[in-house]
Amino acid sequence: MMEQTVVLIKPDGFAKKVVGQVIDRFERAGLSIVGLKLVRLTQAILDVWYAHHKDKPFFPELCSQMMATPVVAIVLAGEGAIQKVFDLCGPTDPQDAAPGTIRKDFGVDKPHNVVHRSDSAEAAEKEIGLLFTSAELYPERS
Ligand code: PPS
Repeated sequence: MMEQTVVLIKPDGFAKKVVGQVIDRFERAGLSIVGLKLVRLTQAILDVWYAHHKDKPFFPELCSQMMATPVVAIVLAGEGAIQKVFDLCGPTDPQDAAPGTIRKDFGVDKPHNVVHRSDSAEAAEKEIGLLFTSAELYPERS
């Protein structure tokens, strides 16, 4: 199924200057970029983005980490894009990830795991709506 999904290259990935290498992995896997920009996340956006984590003890730390610098927001499209991106990123904790995954190769620990990716089609739709207008997307690329 053709899908769209969101990847954020988080402040730790941005600081490490691995943006090009991360994007390269998605393009080599056959995914198409249909949206791409630098975004400064705000608390208002993160309250919605991470609404399901709002009561977790790490929520304040997660938000301050995500607002430390701009993030690179990317909408990727392709056949089975959500699962493909999942597999390319690896599990949330880089220490559980296999070599060759983005989080293992460039990440350190759970807060510093280089990328966020949509969990599901519903999450992708919500995340795209929070960060992109339809004029900023080029779905005809997919
Ligand atoms: S949970 O509780 O199992 O649902 O959480 P998890 O899936 O492991 O992680 C959800 C997101 O929270 C981030 N996270 C953290 N941030 C900062 N500090 C700590 N300790 C921490 N633990 C988890 C984690 O990176 C996930 O963010 P995203 O953006 O989805 O990768």
